[in-house]
Amino acid sequence: MADMMWAGRFSKQVDDRVNDFNSSVSFDARMYRQDIQGSVAHATMLGECGIIDMKESLAIVEGLKGILSDIDSGKLHIDPNAEDIHMFVEAELTKRLGDTGKRLHTARSRNDQVALDIRMYLRDEINEILSYIEQLINTIVKLAEDNLTTIMPGYTHMQRAQPITFAHHVMAYAQMLLRDKGRLEDTYKRMNVLPLGSGALASTTYPINRERVCELLGFDEVSQNSLDGVSDRDFCIELASALSILMMHLSRFSEEIILWCSWEFKFIELDDAFATGSSIMPQKKNPDVTELIRGKTARVYGDLNTLLTMMKGTPLAYNKDMQEDKPAIFDAIDTVKLCLKTFIPMLDTMKVIPENMRNAAARGFINATDCADYLVKKGMPFRDAYKITGTLVAKCIEKGVTLETLPIEEYKALCDKFDEGVYDAINLDSCVMQRKAKGGPAPECVKEQIEYVKRKLQK
Ligand code: ARG
Repeated sequence: MADMMWAGRFSKQVDDRVNDFNSSVSFDARMYRQDIQGSVAHATMLGECGIIDMKESLAIVEGLKGILSDIDSGKLHIDPNAEDIHMFVEAELTKRLGDTGKRLHTARSRNDQVALDIRMYLRDEINEILSYIEQLINTIVKLAEDNLTTIMPGYTHMQRAQPITFAHHVMAYAQMLLRDKGRLEDTYKRMNVLPLGSGALASTTYPINRERVCELLGFDEVSQNSLDGVSDRDFCIELASALSILMMHLSRFSEEIILWCSWEFKFIELDDAFATGSSIMPQKKNPDVTELIRGKTARVYGDLNTLLTMMKGTPLAYNKDMQEDKPAIFDAIDTVKLCLKTFIPMLDTMKVIPENMRNAAARGFINATDCADYLVKKGMPFRDAYKITGTLVAKCIEKGVTLETLPIEEYKALCDKFDEGVYDAINLDSCVMQRKAKGGPAPECVKEQIEYVKRKLQK
């Protein structure tokens, strides 16, 4: 085992078990690009400010770029025994440049370095997730455009409630996803603050130029307090929280798809490429993808919980506990990306079965509200109309018929305000067409929703 970088202070080698325990390279190696980009900006600034020699600054920048391209091309392997990615890059630079490499860490600590790297890494990941969310919204919009007049039952308490369209139903998810997108954009904004220059905790005595580094690395501003700069991970928590809410939405959508593809509903049929079979029951076609999304939602909630709990008792400033931020937030990101990547094509290839949706809507007295509204339009107070319709429904159930097939005499026997017009009023299509208040399921309103969503995506 080579001497640790802090060997001067110690009289013994660190125990191998502690080294293994301490090392984070197995999970922070993925930030190598951001680590190197951060160091390039730092070294550039050190040279420009005269803190290190300009020639050495240029050599460091070149050396770092060489390391980056060698890792990218597979020529250089990240040492699994390194303490972390920061130490690995610095050691490699020193191997290549000798004493010049040792100047890189001037006016910097790993505490502000790691705070920088995670922010840069997560910024990129947020952008990637945002593009998946946009793809998903577009897929939903397409599904809605194809199903503007596909009537289905809307539910409350999982009981048939009022008729809606499939387009209206799926567009509800487009709205949720737009808010998810907004939450991620907000998280990005608060994350995009440069912590480098905070030093270990108390900034530095060197005449550094933080604004210059800020500009080089595309941050919106520099952090205002060095203790805060190195010691909060609220941006990870905020991201995990936004991702948890996103997963909650995906999980609800998944749950509905699981129901819809059951034989009891058969509102949709999953494409064979996005379903799985059973090892014993030949008839099975299982919605594993959606079930896994439902299951993996628990995982992301767990990551959020890990981060919240990890941070709640740590005094300022940096504590090693905080190294545990990465496995948690990386797991949340990986899980969300995996889910979105699979959910989008699954939704895109899913076959809608309008006849079955309509048949389900034709049963269950889904038009009872419309029957009551019919009487209200004839001057009756809603509560009275509600009661009469309830009696009619009970009568239908007793006779094994629906409101559409109940003879007009039965209606009239209960209330003389009824005439043949009631059949138009309770016709499924008109029930949906008449629900045209803003935000309603009438096709013209859903078209407006679609336009709204498209506009929001263009911004
Ligand atoms: N690997 C560490 C982490 O991920 C880097 C910071 C180490 N700082 C320290 N003072 N030991 O948090």
